[in-house]
Amino acid sequence: MNTMNRRSFLAGCVIASATITVSTALTGCTRSHKKSALSDVLFSHGVASGDPLSNAVIIWTRAIPSTNAMQGDTFATVNVLWEIATDQGFVDIVRVGQVITSESIDYTIKVDVQDLQAATQYYFRFTGAHQISRVGRTKTLPVGDVDSIKLAVLSCSNFPAGYFNAYAEAAKDNQIDAVLHLGDYIYEYAMGGYATQRAEEIGRSISPDNDKETISLVDYRKRYALYRTDKGLLDLHANTPFIAVWDDHEVANDTYKDGAQNHNEGEGGFFERRLAAISAYYEWLPIRPPKGNQSPEIYRHFEFGNLLSLYMLDTRIIGRDKQLEYSEYRDTETNTFNSKEFIHDINKPQRTLLGKKQFDWLSAAISESTAKWQVLGQQVLMSKMMLPIDVFGGDDRSQIPRTIEQLVNIQQALENGQEVSVQELNRLNTKMPYNLDAWDGYPAEREKLYATAQQTNKSLIVLAGDTHNAWHSVLSAQNGLPVGVEFATPAVSSPGMEYYLRTEHETSSKLAQQLPLLIDDLQYCNLHQRGYMTITLTSQKVTAEWIYIDQILSPNYQVAARHKVDYS
Ligand SMILES: [Fe+2]
Repeated sequence: MNTMNRRSFLAGCVIASATITVSTALTGCTRSHKKSALSDVLFSHGVASGDPLSNAVIIWTRAIPSTNAMQGDTFATVNVLWEIATDQGFVDIVRVGQVITSESIDYTIKVDVQDLQAATQYYFRFTGAHQISRVGRTKTLPVGDVDSIKLAVLSCSNFPAGYFNAYAEAAKDNQIDAVLHLGDYIYEYAMGGYATQRAEEIGRSISPDNDKETISLVDYRKRYALYRTDKGLLDLHANTPFIAVWDDHEVANDTYKDGAQNHNEGEGGFFERRLAAISAYYEWLPIRPPKGNQSPEIYRHFEFGNLLSLYMLDTRIIGRDKQLEYSEYRDTETNTFNSKEFIHDINKPQRTLLGKKQFDWLSAAISESTAKWQVLGQQVLMSKMMLPIDVFGGDDRSQIPRTIEQLVNIQQALENGQEVSVQELNRLNTKMPYNLDAWDGYPAEREKLYATAQQTNKSLIVLAGDTHNAWHSVLSAQNGLPVGVEFATPAVSSPGMEYYLRTEHETSSKLAQQLPLLIDDLQYCNLHQRGYMTITLTSQKVTAEWIYIDQILSPNYQVAARHKVDYS
């Protein structure tokens, strides 16, 4: 026990069977007594930490009964010891306790370690009868004045699509204070489905006991267990606390408040499936569920001293009205588009992504915050991505680069003062949103949010995932005034625009240079490289850096490119 005194040891000692053990309960245990009761386990999926506060952090592991321990025994519960220290050698242990887990929560363990010091780096580990887990590193949030905070932002890791080299690279950066995970931590698809084509070839198959689409609690648990074998992901979890929210694929593609594109009646009740999905998520992610382990209300906020308020939002499960589809407004017989009805429907003032409760919570929190920066960690692009309607014309996607080239030529002619026909001008200026699944499909609520920012004189730093590509846009309200900036992270391994358009790297790079010329608010994009993003905030400026890795087909990768931008 070394430098830890008896009083602090007792304060940290607790036995509980809930998913989250809060470590402030007092018991009369001693360490030697505890050790004798520890179970023979395997720490099969590493360690993790998350949801740091200035005085607390969640630590996580999974402790499955070892093969020896299972012989002739059903092992309803297992006991392990947890320790948290200020040094890697565990000389200065500041909290310690014992925790019970069982099959009922997939042998996952979460401890909400309390009474920690602010802005402090800690090390943690778990101990069974004969085993010690790897050592995890975590950090509590600061209070008061803060010079600088560095966040890593990641999303969309698809196991069969490739190796999680972006996680591996982020794990090497010891300057990162917290990882924001914006969802698609897993994908629900079966082998043979989306992004699984090369899985076998690259050694990323899903085992036969989990290779169907995930529906049940057992299915989702097995999928998390698979993903948590990737070395890059294990290293990042061990090295940095996560602050995570889900996107749609933690449940099913294009989820909304009472259904999903990738859910049908044959798969059982949607709400049953959703409960299974969120239960497994809460079990496997180092998260402090704000409303308990059964509640879909995941939105919550974090204060990094007086530098930034971070709001982690759910744009999928709680409040989202079903996405509109362009195809529903097209008359297939006459091939005409009912734009009047579409415009009426998309602009309905009650149409919502967040839902009233979450919106009101966010609006009040932004209004009350005294922090320099208001950071929104959420899933889908918020900026206006209005593209000339010509780009959408026809079913042949291979024509899109050529159409964009033509439109850019018209745009450049216009800028150079050359003559442009009325017809060409119409081609350029008749625009529609490219993705109705994003905030573009919910413009009234977006304007309401922008109005909150304007009324309270706050600048929004919006972070997004979901698209698998990198984007930097200004956020502009209907009145033309800027309300902030959006930085979107590329996927860890899910395929991006280059897959959709079937374009080679060279064409993708050219398209990425052309798109900002056609989309008013877009400043920069990358359409073909996987990676992640860091956001460094000081009182003076916010710096976004995109880090792209060269390939995902093997774990032997290199950083291929970086792009950096300042916002103040
Ligand atoms: Fe994704």
